[in-house]
Amino acid sequence: MENKVSRQLQPWCDLEGKVVLVTGASAGLGRQFCTDLAKAGCYIVAAARRANRLSSLCDEINEIATTTQAVAMELDVTAGRNTIEGAAQKAWAVFGRIDVLINNAGIRGGTDSSLDISEDEWEDVFNTNLNGAWMLSKYIGRHMREVGKGGSIINISSGFGLDRVQQHGSVAYSSSKAGMNNMTKVMALELGRSKIRVNAIAPAIFPSELTAEIFKKKWFRDVAMKIVPLQTSGTSDPALTSVIRYLIHDSSQYVTGNIFIVDCGATLTGVPIFSSL
Ligand SMILES: NC(=O)c1ccc[n+]([C@@H]2O[C@H](COP(=O)([O-])OP(=O)(O)OC[C@H]3O[C@@H](n4cnc5c(N)ncnc54)[C@H](OP(=O)(O)O)[C@@H]3O)[C@@H](O)[C@H]2O)c1
Repeated sequence: MENKVSRQLQPWCDLEGKVVLVTGASAGLGRQFCTDLAKAGCYIVAAARRANRLSSLCDEINEIATTTQAVAMELDVTAGRNTIEGAAQKAWAVFGRIDVLINNAGIRGGTDSSLDISEDEWEDVFNTNLNGAWMLSKYIGRHMREVGKGGSIINISSGFGLDRVQQHGSVAYSSSKAGMNNMTKVMALELGRSKIRVNAIAPAIFPSELTAEIFKKKWFRDVAMKIVPLQTSGTSDPALTSVIRYLIHDSSQYVTGNIFIVDCGATLTGVPIFSSL
């Protein structure tokens, strides 16, 4: 009974049969998204460069599944048009369609200032975070449009892409994520007629390889507890996984062109110059 009620209240817990392509699936948030979505009944095409990590993820999922539920696809999202177009074709063929694309692959880059960052690093960050996401959306989006059954594209952006908090040493990262946010809105505008919804999620900081070092710092935990409105940094499951499930499920069929900020309120705060500490 309790189960039945909670399933009615949270219909997006059940995503039986949806086919989801996740980039950056070999580690961190992308890996968590894959395991969570597999639990919700999705079929997963898990893409990244490190094939061995993808295999172990897929083995983990398939071990408890009745049929092959997850398939690994080695892919560098910066590899350019021919590779990405081919990868979109290949990913589509694995389960016969893609219902959802999660553009999650991303890199932070170093912390050099805008006057010191190298051109190579700027390009790496943009090629991974923005160009790769656009190109994969383009070629998966074309298949979705042709088949005519709609789809959901979910871009994993960042709080740094918002017109709010900024940080020293993040010029390429922040700019690429701001670009991703605008790309999300324009694509939502253009693909709506094909019932392809395009949304982004802007997380604050959650534990992953990308953020491992900062979570070890005492000052970070202290600051988070004092100035973040919800006084926690939360965990990506369920903070992000629940939003992803919602954006996949038909419950969100009227939702497109949004940037969902998931940050415990962190990007609302400025320097606490009054007595909030
Ligand atoms: N963790 C956070 O707190 C946080 C906050 C805001 C936004 N985000 C965003 O969330 C996404 C995931 O971050 P994360 O924290 O999970 O990072 P992570 O632990 O470093 O994982 C990054 C993933 O991206 C993949 N990747 C990197 N470059 C790639 C490329 N050229 N082609 C294909 N895959 C590539 C990596 O796989 P391979 O190395 O195997 O290719 C890895 O699976 C990123 O877009 C990041 O900007 C994270």
